[in-house]
Amino acid sequence: MKRILSCMQPTSHLHLGNYLGALKNWVRLQEEGAECFYGVVDLHAITVDYDPAQLKDATREIAAAYIAGGVNPYNSAIFVQSAVAGHSQLMWLLATMAQMGKLERMTQFKDKAGKDKERAGLGLFAYPVLMAADILLYRATHVPVGEDQKQHLELARDIASTFNTRYKVDHFIQPEPYIMGAATRVMSLRDGTQKMSKSAESDLSRINLTDDADAIANKIKRAKTDSEPLPDNMNALKTRPEALNLVTIYAALADKSPEKILNQFAGKQFSEFKPKLSELAVSKLAPITARMNELMSDKEEIDRILAKGAQRARAVAEPVLKETMDIMGFWKAP
Ligand code: TRP
Repeated sequence: MKRILSCMQPTSHLHLGNYLGALKNWVRLQEEGAECFYGVVDLHAITVDYDPAQLKDATREIAAAYIAGGVNPYNSAIFVQSAVAGHSQLMWLLATMAQMGKLERMTQFKDKAGKDKERAGLGLFAYPVLMAADILLYRATHVPVGEDQKQHLELARDIASTFNTRYKVDHFIQPEPYIMGAATRVMSLRDGTQKMSKSAESDLSRINLTDDADAIANKIKRAKTDSEPLPDNMNALKTRPEALNLVTIYAALADKSPEKILNQFAGKQFSEFKPKLSELAVSKLAPITARMNELMSDKEEIDRILAKGAQRARAVAEPVLKETMDIMGFWKAP
């Protein structure tokens, strides 16, 4: 039986890359009958500058996006990381098994710490250990992540095996990465070689799940392209990052292969392709945006869903934490 766990940080609004690259796959896994846990990792979000006054709503907004994107909260557990105490507790236990040298090689830490590593917080450094705790706490078998998180997942596998070896047990499961595939890598609309990201400064580079139809159309219209018409084969497309990106997005939104999209548009100019892409994007995203807005206007409903999700998450997490502490030899009340 597959047990899936994946999470997103409530750091800012979600965009098309999060939807096509992650959420859509989460929904597919749920529909294939896997047992799914989808977390909003607020403890990770506080490793960088954040506004405490906005954290709650940012957390609710991510949950709303999961639901609007198709995660069924009666089927998958949607939970907030800080509401399940086991994450922080297990993290400390695992921290004793995570090697500094390995943590120092984490590229995300290097990127986020920037030039002034001395001033970076311990939380930012230990971020991958918390992520390992997120995963191992549920004995997840498969973890859908993007390319950029592979290194963190490798560390989680490493910590699991260090634990099992040190305590001579077969306790933690080695989580398998579930890489979403290059086909769903959504790149910036301004630079086809950069990932679409929530932190890129130009808002024109991404389509947010909260954008309305006009904003979506405007961003697609202004998306960078080259001056050639669309080719009739994938090889010719591969050397043209911006063209490849737009075709990839079209294909993912239409649930078709990029080849199929090329069959349809070979020889056509972007002036013809872009309006079709806008139309498709708006038709797919508008219902998601509408549902998100509806949910965000009923915070009590989101809170009820999150409270239920936390209960289900705790039901799995607490016994695993208990067993971990037993194995490690901690005292417990008789
Ligand atoms: N680090 C992940 C990201 O930034 C988020 C994350 C935290 C996560 N814990 C996780 C993803 C556990 C998968 C599983 O995208």
